Amino acid sequence: MAGESRLNDFFDEAKKVAEFLLESISKERNILVISHMDADGISAAGIMGKALFNAGAKFCIRIERWMDEKVLDEACLHGEDTLLIFTDMGSGYLDILGAKVGDRRIVILDHHQPIGNSKESFLQVNPHLFGIDGSREISSAGIAYLVAKFLDGKNINLAYLAVVGALGDLQDKFDDRRLGGVNELIVKDAVESGFLSVETDLLFFGRETRPIHKALAYTANPYIPGISGEEDKSLAFLSELNIELKRNDRWRALRDLSQDEKRRLFSALHDYLVSRGFRSEVAMRLLGAVYVLVKEEPWTPLRDAREFALLLNATGRMEVPGLGVAICMGDRSEAYEEALKTLDEYRQTITKYLRWLDENSNRIEEWDSIYVLHGEKDIDERAISTISTILSTNLPKPNKPLIAYSFIPREKILKISARTTDSLAKMGLNLGEIIRVAAEKCSGVGGGHDIAAGAQIPYERKIEFLKNVNLLVKKQIERLKKNEGGSQNNISI
Ligand code: C5P
Ligand code: C5P
Repeated sequence: MAGESRLNDFFDEAKKVAEFLLESISKERNILVISHMDADGISAAGIMGKALFNAGAKFCIRIERWMDEKVLDEACLHGEDTLLIFTDMGSGYLDILGAKVGDRRIVILDHHQPIGNSKESFLQVNPHLFGIDGSREISSAGIAYLVAKFLDGKNINLAYLAVVGALGDLQDKFDDRRLGGVNELIVKDAVESGFLSVETDLLFFGRETRPIHKALAYTANPYIPGISGEEDKSLAFLSELNIELKRNDRWRALRDLSQDEKRRLFSALHDYLVSRGFRSEVAMRLLGAVYVLVKEEPWTPLRDAREFALLLNATGRMEVPGLGVAICMGDRSEAYEEALKTLDEYRQTITKYLRWLDENSNRIEEWDSIYVLHGEKDIDERAISTISTILSTNLPKPNKPLIAYSFIPREKILKISARTTDSLAKMGLNLGEIIRVAAEKCSGVGGGHDIAAGAQIPYERKIEFLKNVNLLVKKQIERLKKNEGGSQNNISI
């Protein structure tokens, strides 16, 4: 984590925003929160919504796909008396923001790499400005939480939502798939406030909601040959270990297994992987930190913070983000029931595209220094981000970033979702910067994080854009290799 003093400066900035919010609330100003449509953006909006509600503020929340001129034009239709708060978006587009909002005082709570010039009138809380890694150590929900806690200490009750946001942005990159950096302090708050318990357990996805053989079959990190993706074989494997799959006519989930059953299961999977030539460390990846939201009902997707994040993401991607925000603000009735249906649809959509890709593997091309997934009109732009994330962990050569795209016919634009691996990002590859530069060369906009980035460009510039990205990745990797041992921070395109 960054040195203490910078961390304190970062906290001071959050405190400044909280003071400004209190002043705005006392003047009865209208507040408009504009946030990003993924799990982190929705959690951030939910935290702000709840904190503003608790403070008696007049506010509205809007969730957007991305920031562009149209979004800003609409925001500016609200007169100067409305305070605009951007969460999980804004820092990457400071110049566009400056041009649109003029000298209006706005608040930006964002963890994307800052690009452009921040005006004096902008109150921006961004970890990157304080030497804190915004891709791994705190997400936008975390920043919103810090502000909320400075608004009122009682908002410590919202810390668990910041944990959900960070997990939604895949920030569990520390040992044992833990959250680290500033997130670790937020986890502590969530535990202290009685909402969270952190356990070390098997990391099958769906520990609360899926029958155990399904959860095992859905586990792809690590990939278990002969079991991953094969429900029948997973079921047979568990039966051989005498693990009861049903009790009282009900499928058992991982949460229902006794410690002894889990120990036997882990040890059998470990031996199975080792007997197939995997190193013991690979099997150890089956174990890690599980973030249990202890106030939520067992056997629901809200109980496991990673599943909670998936539910929020589903509402955003399926264009009903209001349901996600309502859940974050406490709804456990209508909005929650609707969101469960949305989650089902979302899962089916993703499965449909993954199957389609299995049959159309020629849509994934290996270029010199990147992979390209040509989603064209066949993969909906709302799914491309998730497909890109999933595919990027299963590429034959992990040392090449994946550039996935979909065509949005009604807008005639290409939506790009780019992902790289931890190892390339650690080496210093900055996908956010590469995608931004390539997009701007093609009259588009783009940016994001070193590890995950996105862009929108005119459709007809597609090949030029991809060639540019290919070249920029190649050049940056060559430079990084030459500079190995030198300071990574000095490396630019
Ligand atoms: O806008 P924001 O920062 O919230 O989104 C980051 C996106 O990148 C999320 O959708 C997250 O799942 C994705 N991501 C990824 N791989 C990583 C880190 C983030 O796919 N290693
Ligand atoms: O849309 P997707 O999940 O692929 O975006 C990956 C990351 O890039 C997210 O953090 C998103 O906010 C960011 N992004 C951006 N500018 C864009 C598109 C995406 O900063 N034009």
